[in-house]
Amino acid sequence: MVLIIRDEVNRYTEYKNGTVWLDTAGSPIQAHGGCIINYKDYYYWYGENRLGDNYISCYRSDDLLNWEFRNNILTINSKTEKTRVKSDMTILRDDGRKVIIERPKVVYNKFTNKFVMWAHYENGIDYSEARCCVATCDTPDGDFVYHGSFNPFGNMSRDCTLFEDENGDMYFISSARFNCDTNIYRLQKDYLNIDKYITTLWQGEVREAPAMFKKDGRYYMLNSGCTGWRPNQGMWSQSSDVSDRWDILKNVGDCTTYNSQPAFILKTEEEGKIKYRYFGDRWVYKEKGMLDGQEDIKSFYSKSTYVILDLKFDEDGNLSIDWQDEFRPKVK
Ligand code: GAL
Repeated sequence: MVLIIRDEVNRYTEYKNGTVWLDTAGSPIQAHGGCIINYKDYYYWYGENRLGDNYISCYRSDDLLNWEFRNNILTINSKTEKTRVKSDMTILRDDGRKVIIERPKVVYNKFTNKFVMWAHYENGIDYSEARCCVATCDTPDGDFVYHGSFNPFGNMSRDCTLFEDENGDMYFISSARFNCDTNIYRLQKDYLNIDKYITTLWQGEVREAPAMFKKDGRYYMLNSGCTGWRPNQGMWSQSSDVSDRWDILKNVGDCTTYNSQPAFILKTEEEGKIKYRYFGDRWVYKEKGMLDGQEDIKSFYSKSTYVILDLKFDEDGNLSIDWQDEFRPKVK
């Protein structure tokens, strides 16, 4: 049974972790592997939506609990426009089947006033292309224009995230070399391309699902092991320099990260305090035949839910998470 806590006007007052989360129209929220940004008076939640012709969805909320569906910002019909000399512009395969676009991360570029999305691109048959892809829009929830996919400096690029430093530098982080390594790149000022390879972390340790943030001058990264949709032990690391001397990885949460995989970290200010929360995907998956076809994927994956937990820090900045039944933000 799905327990939904909604008040007299049918609004959520909290979200029970791991349950189906309905949007304001009553449909399950399809925003998997995504991110939340705060722009003007609203939060925008972007994520994977594999249903129909869609790739990436966008929802909007002012309280982080009640989400209005706004748009499928990237679909098989999205406009395409080349911004790099070498990009593969395929957004729908020649045989009419969808490609795969995962782990979208959207950021606002204050230099160009554009919303820019980076994500993981695959050809829809297997995970052999291992590319990043880019799309942009003038508004947070409009139709994004697709700018194609590529391998940064020829590297494989699978699970990924974006991180903006306080000085405005934007970094793209992705799993490389068959997921063995985690690479960090700095983006160009327009965020449309990679400007510089920065470093390779934890070579050979096979990590994915990176999520990065900064607190008190220290950079933090959480990630998962590499077991497909099956959950595994989350880990974390920190450094005082984005390009150097990251700690060895340490466990966070229990051995399945409370049956979830990192999507992103959300920073909010609530009742005068800064809070950091772990957002994870609790995938509903099937052991075999995962890529038998889009029908197959739709039937299980779209039932996936979310796990949101407070990040806790001790005096030395060590990070931990514990299980919590519910997510009860106080941003309003
Ligand atoms: C996971 C990855 C997901 C998706 C899945 C496919 O390891 O984190 O984003 O790519 O594999 O098997």
